[in-house]
Amino acid sequence: MAILSVRDLRAYYRTEAYGISRTVHAVDGVSFDLHPDEIYGVAGESSCGKSTLIKVISGNVKPPLKAYSGSVEYDNGLQKVDMLTISPEEMRRNIRWKEISYVMQGSMSVLNPVRKIIKTFEDIVESHRGIQDKKVFREQVEAHINRLGLPTDVLNAYPHQLSGGMRQRVAIALATMFQPRLIIADEPTTALDVVVQRGVLQMLKEIQAESKNTVLLVTHDMAVHANVADRVMIMYAGRIVEEAPTKTIFKSPLHPYTKHLISSLPMIGVRTTKTSLRGSPPNLANPPSGCRFHPRCPLAMEVCRTEIPEMVDVESRHRVACHLVKGGAL
Ligand SMILES: Nc1ncnc2c1ncn2[C@@H]1O[C@H](COP(=O)(O)OP(=O)(O)O)[C@@H](O)[C@H]1O
Ligand code: SF4
Ligand SMILES: [Mg+2]
Repeated sequence: MAILSVRDLRAYYRTEAYGISRTVHAVDGVSFDLHPDEIYGVAGESSCGKSTLIKVISGNVKPPLKAYSGSVEYDNGLQKVDMLTISPEEMRRNIRWKEISYVMQGSMSVLNPVRKIIKTFEDIVESHRGIQDKKVFREQVEAHINRLGLPTDVLNAYPHQLSGGMRQRVAIALATMFQPRLIIADEPTTALDVVVQRGVLQMLKEIQAESKNTVLLVTHDMAVHANVADRVMIMYAGRIVEEAPTKTIFKSPLHPYTKHLISSLPMIGVRTTKTSLRGSPPNLANPPSGCRFHPRCPLAMEVCRTEIPEMVDVESRHRVACHLVKGGAL
């Protein structure tokens, strides 16, 4: 059973400047499922559409972004929710924090700079069910943050009094307080140094192992996926090019772009052929025809320029969109 099903999703930014309209094809025909009790990684270089994908699946679509086609269905086993048509009111009342919560790169976006941390916890509860007893609630929050290894006194601090790593841990504590089934994290550790990053990721991993919920982890950093994700999806220019269990992605990547990502990682004990990548990421206002990777692909053929490669299952949980894979050459 999938907790979230995304089918053939297309979401574009349509902007108008000096009488010229521009359409950025940020998410263009994306399909995947998230399952209970897994950490699913979304990888791909900057501007490939990762954050846009998250905005759409979490019901945060605002102009100039618009979902043009496809579907996003959240299914908690009791109710199905169409995430493309859900109202902000329904989202606030029934879904956010309790069913789906997010952790963003800049934790300040969720923490109010002029309010103590405990107040942010209180504000969230007030917004969907109200607090019966403040003292009891504070005890619950204390128990929760202590379980995550955070000291009680962070609750009395203002966000600016905490380090970046500590703020990000608080953001994760907030996102997990009400035991949501799905936690979406967009580059949660990108701004942090490596040691702090490791601690924050460990915390996220432990929470998932304990609560058995689903984590959708977006980061361009393949090393993070290697350490944390159960499955990984690779995006390139608004499309999925490969998806597989993490071990498979790192040990036997098939798509030339995935191979490039893996081979540029310094990893001990993993042997891959180095592929050099020419050119730069495509402009999504005018994406290349056929396979969007073709201008940079060292193996591109004539067909790659004209035909979009379809997604092919190479094994039960490994799928790839490349003409060479479909033809059996890779
Ligand atoms: N508000 C916006 N208006 C127009 N284009 C945007 C906007 N936000 C993002 N984009 C464009 O959409 C594409 C995907 O961006 P994004 O989803 O942020 O990628 P990623 O998270 O992978 O770095 C990029 O080309 C980016 O420039
Ligand atoms: S479809 Fe063609 S251009 Fe695209 S990755 Fe495969 S070989 Fe390269
Ligand atoms: Mg992003």
